[in-house]
Amino acid sequence: MTTTPGAPSLLLSDRELVAERLLTASAKHSFDPETELDWDAPLVPGLWFLPEHLVSLYGTPMWERMSEEQRIELSRHEAASLASAGIWFEVILMQLLARHIYDLDPRTGHVQYALTEVADECRHSKMFARMVAKLETGWYQPGGMSRFLGRILKTTAPTPAAFTATLLVEEILDRMQRVTFPDERIQPLVRGITRIHVVEETRHVRYAREELRRQMVTAPLWERSFTRLTSGQAAVVVARSLISPKVYAGAGLDVDECLRQVRASEHRRETMRWSAEKLVEFLEETGVIHGRAVRAEWRRSGLL
Ligand SMILES: [Fe+2]
Ligand SMILES: [Fe+2]
Repeated sequence: MTTTPGAPSLLLSDRELVAERLLTASAKHSFDPETELDWDAPLVPGLWFLPEHLVSLYGTPMWERMSEEQRIELSRHEAASLASAGIWFEVILMQLLARHIYDLDPRTGHVQYALTEVADECRHSKMFARMVAKLETGWYQPGGMSRFLGRILKTTAPTPAAFTATLLVEEILDRMQRVTFPDERIQPLVRGITRIHVVEETRHVRYAREELRRQMVTAPLWERSFTRLTSGQAAVVVARSLISPKVYAGAGLDVDECLRQVRASEHRRETMRWSAEKLVEFLEETGVIHGRAVRAEWRRSGLL
């Protein structure tokens, strides 16, 4: 949309300009996973469900002893865990978005894009749910404490904290999915799912980043302080919820030994930091990650 000099009534705020662009892009590039993907095709023997180096045990002594078949089996359970966590996160995000627009003018592009995003997340969660069912691993529901904290967050978080939580989840999963869909060693169904998700989430990340940038300047001081303080705790919960410890039992491995090896793995630490690298840079720049106490909590999450 262009603006005409000297016609202030036609000038759109930054927020509206971004929303208009995102609405146009959504109209052009949105997918219906029900028809876009071949849900009836059988899984392909010998193909992975997650790129090898993203599997939590990769590079550990235990990994070295596992057969290729066992490694692929663990990737199947970890992909199901990521999808299960994805559904939990998205159900929270849908509620945060609905709360965000509760008092806003529905005629604006900003509100209409939020509604578009809720519709995207509905399709995504259903797509992830079908994937979990197809993988036949069981459902890896996040632990009780994570769900309790998620319930508080989705009910009480002020706007900047809500968008920080949104980005935490979207950017970390996005980084992993961007290396998943182009990989020819991955199951076609998983590649299709991650491709759809990456395309649509690019817009969500843009929307959340732009809004958080504004909020960290304009929101009341208490909201900004609350956002800083809780961002680290949110990072801990998100990082902990991605891979359920139950995946190891699901793949027939010793849970305690796996957890010990994952905790000791330098490769895993690097992978987690890599997944949040761009996000951390953005949150530092906008002043969310700021101050010793906040940084300490982020380091505890393993994402910094
Ligand atoms: Fe999504
Ligand atoms: Fe999203």
